[in-house]
Amino acid sequence: MEETKRFLTTFMTAISTCSLYSRAHASVEELARKAHEILTGLIKERLELMVLEGELVVNRNPVRGLGLHGANLMKRFKRKGLSRVDFLKGITFIELKQFIADIADPDRPVMTYPHIKTGAVDVRVGGIMTGVEIDVDSVASEQIEGVKRLYRGISSFKPLDTRGLEEIVLNFIVSFKKEASILKLISPVSAYSEYTYTHATNVAVLSMFQAETLGFRDELLHDIGVAALLHDVGKLFIPREILEKKGSLDEEEWNEIKMHTLHGARYLAKIDGLTPLAPVVALEHHLRYDGEGYPELGSHNGRQHFCSQIVAISDFFDALRSKRPYKRDWQIEEIIALMKNSAGREFNPVLVDNFSRAFTLALKQG
Ligand SMILES: [Fe+2]
Ligand SMILES: [Fe+2]
Repeated sequence: MEETKRFLTTFMTAISTCSLYSRAHASVEELARKAHEILTGLIKERLELMVLEGELVVNRNPVRGLGLHGANLMKRFKRKGLSRVDFLKGITFIELKQFIADIADPDRPVMTYPHIKTGAVDVRVGGIMTGVEIDVDSVASEQIEGVKRLYRGISSFKPLDTRGLEEIVLNFIVSFKKEASILKLISPVSAYSEYTYTHATNVAVLSMFQAETLGFRDELLHDIGVAALLHDVGKLFIPREILEKKGSLDEEEWNEIKMHTLHGARYLAKIDGLTPLAPVVALEHHLRYDGEGYPELGSHNGRQHFCSQIVAISDFFDALRSKRPYKRDWQIEEIIALMKNSAGREFNPVLVDNFSRAFTLALKQG
């Protein structure tokens, strides 16, 4: 059953990667190849995959513990009107890869294949399985392109591509399971123009890292990733001359920059189907633990949501770590020391403590 889970996870990741990039992307090829290899090892005569009452069932055994991968696969199948897929002995790599592309693209009909039969379910079964090992080759740095595409699609006139967002965050989760060292997942800024996307990606990675070490799982871990990825979205509504200005900013320019919290919250609050954490975090990530910071919220009382406190720490860490026109970059130990200094005032002390401990541990392991 472990191999079945490995196949489903790889298969789903290939679908996610294919819809995030394109079917021609090297990782899609690689993941499809891996999925094909596992699948051919599994098939005796046929491998029967069904969706029955919200569960994935393979060769009449329910497969549990696939988390978001399982949920996503079922969602994808449902969109295509599929509740049963049979993979037959002799299936070729090209067939599987083509099928992955069919499922990944919402507008593309599922073709007919000699060794893949699709349709509706006709049986009912039982049985329990637990535990899963996720094994995938995507890392956060590869996600930056996806984040860039997502960010470029944002404007007051267009809805946010929430599906693309879902795929990015799912891939982060996959990367975490695979990569023990958090530092390998956060990317250096290669150019000023890339800062927005790199920063968004890093803050999402760091926030999910904190959340996971604090015991957040599944939906909540996913939602904090989404919220962190979008925390600075409001900056897209601020003039570039101010955002990228090399010298120091005057008061008026600072006030303009501070507005990104309100712009972001306003934009995100209007998006259907987005986690409510996203506008909350966009609004509050520059508030401080002690109620200072901005924006001034009057009746709100200045209390930050716990998730905003997590994102505030990631934001501080990545901003200092990255080279910006107006800052030098800092060493990790220096940043953690600074954070500890501000614990209780700027940051939640419990979170600072957790971050420092988890990060130091990850550094040692990496
Ligand atoms: Fe910000
Ligand atoms: Fe930020």
